Amino acid sequence: MTLHLLLPAAGIGQRFGQNTPKQYCPVAGKRLAEWTLDLWRGVAIDGRRLLILREDDAVGQSLISNYPKLESVTGGAERADSVLAGLDALDAGPDDWVMVHDIARPCIRADDIARLWHHCQQTGRGALLARPLTDTIKRQVDGELTSLDRRQLWAAMTPQCFPVLMLRDALRDALNTGESITDEASAMERLGCPVDLVEGAADNIKLTRAEDLALVEFYLQQQGRLP
Ligand code: C5P
Repeated sequence: MTLHLLLPAAGIGQRFGQNTPKQYCPVAGKRLAEWTLDLWRGVAIDGRRLLILREDDAVGQSLISNYPKLESVTGGAERADSVLAGLDALDAGPDDWVMVHDIARPCIRADDIARLWHHCQQTGRGALLARPLTDTIKRQVDGELTSLDRRQLWAAMTPQCFPVLMLRDALRDALNTGESITDEASAMERLGCPVDLVEGAADNIKLTRAEDLALVEFYLQQQGRLP
């Protein structure tokens, strides 16, 4: 089993509400993306490592030169388009697997990555890091409110790990039907492919809003990653 890595970084971060794309915001002396790339630099990946960038992303391209094993690929309009572009670029075989990790999750822990990969190797099933929900969740449709049973609910995180060719076909199929696909697992689920949840650390947050920056810095410090 060869393992590849895709790091989607082609988003514009609409909810972040600043001029700089969120992945390039300064956090504790580096750009946010560098914290994510630095962590993955130390992870054993025997396949290729692709950073998925928007076209003409000069900042992203400038980062590539600091990470010798990293290659760049041009992404697409939605996250699923970007990931599919990365999967196509891998030109992978039937035994190849891939981990897909949001560039905007810099606090990912190496031991969580190792547990996820171990699970996939042991079971032969795709899996993702996730957290059980602690809040009570409400669904509101046309003004009508219902409550969901939180014991059944998990928040999906990344990395998500799947066989490359299965994920590529699943994403292509989902995109062809025009469905909104916000993570890899949902594309696999809709085809009935096996997907497992592996509980990950709570500090693996995705930088989404400006106020998350302070939290990211706090978690990096807690993890002993700040000088
Ligand atoms: O927008 P959101 O926070 O869900 O994006 C998650 C990840 O997907 C981010 O790392 C972002 O850069 C990436 N993305 C992408 N291509 C897009 C949209 C998002 O690579 N078109």
